[in-house]
Amino acid sequence: MEEKFLLNNDDRERESATFLESSRRSQAIWADLPKNPQKYRVLTGERPTGPLHIGHLFGTLSNRVKIQELGATTFIVIADYQVLTDRDSADAVGTNVHEVILDYLAAGLDPENGRTFFFSHSHVPELNQLLLPFMNLVTTAELDRNPTVKEEIRAAGLKQVNALMYTYPIHQAADILFCKGNVVPVGRDQLPHLELTRKIARRFNDRFSPENPVFPVPDALLSDIPLVLGTDGQKMSKSRGNTIMIRMTPEETAKVLKGAKTDADRNITYDPVNRPEVANLLRLISICTGEAPEAVAAAIGDGGGGRLKAALTEALNAYLAPMRERRARHAKDPGYVKDVLRRGVARAREEAVATLEQVRKAMNMDHGLH
Ligand code: TRP
Repeated sequence: MEEKFLLNNDDRERESATFLESSRRSQAIWADLPKNPQKYRVLTGERPTGPLHIGHLFGTLSNRVKIQELGATTFIVIADYQVLTDRDSADAVGTNVHEVILDYLAAGLDPENGRTFFFSHSHVPELNQLLLPFMNLVTTAELDRNPTVKEEIRAAGLKQVNALMYTYPIHQAADILFCKGNVVPVGRDQLPHLELTRKIARRFNDRFSPENPVFPVPDALLSDIPLVLGTDGQKMSKSRGNTIMIRMTPEETAKVLKGAKTDADRNITYDPVNRPEVANLLRLISICTGEAPEAVAAAIGDGGGGRLKAALTEALNAYLAPMRERRARHAKDPGYVKDVLRRGVARAREEAVATLEQVRKAMNMDHGLH
């Protein structure tokens, strides 16, 4: 791999500084959101690379539902172009978009409330066109030092880096700014992209519309839920087989959890440092039942890994039951899923057309046509 794509100490230092500052701003927004939900335009989303699992559910989806319930308008981008950054085949994208929408509906995101919209960015040409003016505001050196891009290049084992992988953080800025999103609920790994989005917004405003800023400078909204690990104690990911998908049956869930990693000590205690796998399973029970992980551990006592896994299976299946029921109902009606997407795309396009018009005007490219 080219050396410039290896993570170095400067990258790491910048990353922690960004994290600290973003956390501070995120806390202030969490405090204000319930009081002033109408101030916030929320934009977030993911790449449609497969059905969503409980890592997504507890890490981001439940947060989105919470924000939706507070009354903020929420746009969710299904970033289908971005799927191709680290793989060649688009074969599964169609199915995955459908599956992801079912997972959103299952989790409780509600496109019938008039405030929640799902769209695929491939269907919003005016959003994609923002890429051109935005590319002009970013240097190649800035793209070179994006730690998340570097990590993805490493994880995918890429020998060559295609220009989409290199530039997708600019595309992500277009995803956020096309609708003037000012709050972006994301995990820590997405903060470098958000930093770039903030720079693009500021630079565009400074250069082309200093009197009357076109774009807000968006903030990340971080979740305080600790990272959920896979059943083997490693990062949760489909390719490792260590995940529980929202769409699994209770039996499939029980089977995966039977294989979960624990340790040799039969006495169950909550000790995240010395017993990370056991602690992860306890935390999952705690998320589902609302009981503190220490109390869950005490109740299991010396019942061992078997009792722990049985308790988790029961708690998780009960927690997921209403979501799975909703998912199954919508899965029987593909026409509805399509309709939800069609409406989301239509609404996103309205926003994108209006923003692009403003952008052209600010850049002296309206040519008297609007
Ligand atoms: N890069 C994000 C991910 O891999 C997905 C994404 C695309 C996104 N556009 C976005 C997230 C805009 C937040 C805002 O998960």
